Amino acid sequence: MAVWAKAEAWLAGPWLALHRARPLSTRAALAPKAVLPFEAIPQCPGNKWMRVLQLWREQGFENIHLDMHQIFQELGPIFRFDVGGRHMVLVMLPEDVERLQKVEGLHPQRMFLEPWLAYRQLHGLKCGVFLLNGPAWRLDRLQLNPGVLSLQAMQKFTPLVDGVARDFSQALRERVMQNARGSLTLDVKPSIFRYTIEASNLVLFGERLGLLAHQPNPESLDFIHALEIMFKSTVQLMFMPRSLSRWTSTGTWREHFEAWDCIFQYANKAIQRLYQELTLGHPWHYSGVVAELLTHANMTVDAIKANSIDLTAGSVDTTAYPLLMTLFELARNPGVQQALRQESLAAAARISENPQRAITELPLLRAALKETLRLYPVGIFLDRHVSSDLVLQNYHIPAGTLVKVLLYSLGRNPAVFARPERYHPQRWLDNQGSGTRFPHLAFGFGVRQCLGRRLAQVEMLLLLHHVLKNFLVETLVQEDIKMIYRFILTPSTLPLLTFRAIN
Ligand code: HEM
Repeated sequence: MAVWAKAEAWLAGPWLALHRARPLSTRAALAPKAVLPFEAIPQCPGNKWMRVLQLWREQGFENIHLDMHQIFQELGPIFRFDVGGRHMVLVMLPEDVERLQKVEGLHPQRMFLEPWLAYRQLHGLKCGVFLLNGPAWRLDRLQLNPGVLSLQAMQKFTPLVDGVARDFSQALRERVMQNARGSLTLDVKPSIFRYTIEASNLVLFGERLGLLAHQPNPESLDFIHALEIMFKSTVQLMFMPRSLSRWTSTGTWREHFEAWDCIFQYANKAIQRLYQELTLGHPWHYSGVVAELLTHANMTVDAIKANSIDLTAGSVDTTAYPLLMTLFELARNPGVQQALRQESLAAAARISENPQRAITELPLLRAALKETLRLYPVGIFLDRHVSSDLVLQNYHIPAGTLVKVLLYSLGRNPAVFARPERYHPQRWLDNQGSGTRFPHLAFGFGVRQCLGRRLAQVEMLLLLHHVLKNFLVETLVQEDIKMIYRFILTPSTLPLLTFRAIN
């Protein structure tokens, strides 16, 4: 059986059974029923301490997205899940995200991330917005939004990203043209990581690192490696009470802290270089997000430093993986790739004149990025400690409960996305104007949504735009790639891709 057909059968079977058992439509037209108590929510079978043991033995929860996807199919669109001392409610329907959003207060709060916090506490370091909560979070976030997330900020940093994306494409072309066949087959992951570091570093600190032209320097390689270790060890530690993990997982705590040491050193060096230059004289030109914060925002240097760490650490893997998965999907869907190329070529002159036009001139490419993030959401969970009581799926959810939305299941629900296994960017455009829009939740929602959303979008859009204009992307692999959960969802392996120069 073809892989897709198998996947389809696997997905359709239980989903259809579930449809029969419980209405999974996004809006169930049922008469109002008495709200059921929290305790009546189906509970995920299994013992919460056995789960900790499993986490410890397997050094992570690499298949948690698949396991939970399966549990939804068995128990319906809401269930309770306990692991160690942590209790949570899992949901997966867009209507439940809407309800969560409606009750959101001024200070939305995600799951407490103990391993990250422990490092900062140990070293007496301030937290950035990722970890802050309450009024302290809001204060920083309101200062950061104008320089990072606003449209004006995007207008300023888009030309910088465009320069890096062009250089990436040019460097790739040079490598391709060295070959007699005018094509190059490679594991493109290291190059894409260098691109996201180079582009983000320029936008954040106003500095080119030269990673695209030369062999990467050892510092950047150490930084990439540290991010990998930090994410992996986060999962090993975050579901376990610290009182236990300090005995059972000393090696993991050490690894985790050493990884943060490296990430902090890397970001701090960039901040120091920038700070010195700014102290010696104000720049005449836009010099990136952190320079704007240092010169205009009403924040202490320590607060800017803390948030620069969040931005630096958050800007590499999150953007690199969707780029890689998009390249792979385009390689195995040549029809989609060709449609995107036509769009890019048609808009090339206008985008070259003004790179900001990429946002409006490339609707299909933007749709392709949404489609990638639907199938492979980098952050598979959106979570909130709800600040007031609410009702989800007719169950009472008391204030303080940790509710997690599994984006992986939301994006693969056939009641929301027809033939969800298909890579079909057009679906995001077909229903425009009809009033019904697909939920695009990969960057979260509300006032606490991803701070780097626009930067990520611009980095992905411009790189793909320049690559599509210059190369055909091909692969021999048609099978799905196994995805694993390492705090972010990552491909376990990536196939070789062939880049063929277009004359
Ligand atoms: C495709 C790329 C990315 C995806 C899918 C993504 C996804 C997310 C998600 C789901 C959240 C949680 C939002 C919520 O709770 O509602 C988040 C938060 C955050 N992201 Fe991203 N992200 C991406 C890229 C980036 C980049 C490039 C940066 C930095 C430049 C960044 C920095 C942050 C920060 C600082 C937060 C915490 C915001 C807060 O709590 O106030 N992200 N991201």
